[in-house]
Amino acid sequence: MADDNRTATLTFDNKKVDLPIHSPSVGPDVLDIRKLYGQGGVFTFDPGYTSTASCESSITFIDGDEGVLLHRGYPIDQLAEKSHYLEVCYLLLYGELPEGDQLEDFESRVTSHTMLHEQMMFFFRGFRRDAHPMALMTGVVGAMSAFYHDSTDIADPWQREVATIRLIAKMPTIAAMAYKFTIGQPFVYPRNDLDYSSNFLRMCFAVPSEDYEVNPILSRAMDRIFTLHADHEQNASTSTVRLASSSGANPFACIAAGIACLWGPAHGGANQACLEMLKEIGTVDRIPEFIARAKDKNDPFRLMGFGHRVYKNFDPRATVLKQSADEVLELLGVENNPTLQVAKALEAAALADPYFAEKKLFPNVDFYSGIILEAMGFPTSMFTPIFAVSRTVGWISQWKEMIADPAMKIGRPRQLYTGATYRDYVDVENR
Ligand code: SDX
Repeated sequence: MADDNRTATLTFDNKKVDLPIHSPSVGPDVLDIRKLYGQGGVFTFDPGYTSTASCESSITFIDGDEGVLLHRGYPIDQLAEKSHYLEVCYLLLYGELPEGDQLEDFESRVTSHTMLHEQMMFFFRGFRRDAHPMALMTGVVGAMSAFYHDSTDIADPWQREVATIRLIAKMPTIAAMAYKFTIGQPFVYPRNDLDYSSNFLRMCFAVPSEDYEVNPILSRAMDRIFTLHADHEQNASTSTVRLASSSGANPFACIAAGIACLWGPAHGGANQACLEMLKEIGTVDRIPEFIARAKDKNDPFRLMGFGHRVYKNFDPRATVLKQSADEVLELLGVENNPTLQVAKALEAAALADPYFAEKKLFPNVDFYSGIILEAMGFPTSMFTPIFAVSRTVGWISQWKEMIADPAMKIGRPRQLYTGATYRDYVDVENR
């Protein structure tokens, strides 16, 4: 952070506290409040951290007003168009786009770690077949800490690197196994002659009884979806991974915590909730009814796939996904997909409605992703696991950055306490 010795002075109750101002490379300045409690005897109050920077980072920048998303400075639309997921993984992890041999080495290391310890198959058998795949992923990824002891010491840079490669490599295998388990089909082993996205599709959709050829349209769409979901600054699941890691917990347990957080419908679970909402709407003529419900303060219903804590403009990922949805569904010959028609009509109706304009509620990354994933053959229950596969590199990049930060300390927020003040215990006969 740039320090130009500027300060903000806070005066209250005859107190004066000077708060240093730090300047970013781009985006809002920050007020450094680390000494506020010591010098002023007060906390700040910011439920949901709407105005709080929890860390310094150089990985991803979001300008919510302008609808800008940069990964190490590169705009997401250019990365989606010109790069591919494993190259974006390298960029997020190491800070620069790889040169040819660097990319080849990285892809080779990931490819050769896609298999899971054979003993881990048995973890799946402890679940009911109707378990949600996110429950399976949370459990199995956490269980990795019981198998890969040689990559749990976070103080060892080499072990951190091994854990990084293992997690990126094995998440598609675990997600595909979770899917196969819930549909009663045998697990499909990864193959080293396939690229990352093709391998994932084959592990999900191949069966022993016949050959499976990966459709290049689907693998390109899969890779684009992985690329668009890779990282997103200090979102809820990334902040969960950072907070869990701040206690020194092992990387597999911390990533499992991130998976658990991502599952929520307000976060990564929104892609499943969005498609289920679009199907509930069913036809374009029912859109006004749901728009009215979304605006009704007495109705908890919200338009899933709409709104964002940071974006008060179009989510740039939604823009790319909308274009991909058109392309993929046309190439698959399902361009008249009724759900896509409802989605487009709903988007137009919401954007034309003053309520959504005033509250700056635009389609987010989850609005179109589900339509593409359904067209590719995935059930809605697999939408968030796919998000988790992609976001693993973002969680790990932020985890690595935090561990390497000399200012890192255990995360321990304070509170505004409004409960009972001191009182003595009363025996039950006297209550
Ligand atoms: C992701 O943080 C990230 O970066 C997340 C993510 C990532 O890549 O990691 O981008 C991925 O999680 C995208 C968001 C997916 N979630 C959804 O699509 C669920 C539907 N969206 C809402 O639940 C909501 O918009 C949130 C949770 C996304 C954002 O919530 P905020 O910022 O806390 O906003 P808010 O709840 O304070 O809402 C502000 C106002 C409220 O009305 P008022 O109280 O001011 O009258 O807008 C309304 C809300 O009622 N509102 C909506 C709405 N979202 C907000 N009204 C109808 N439909 C919606 N979707």
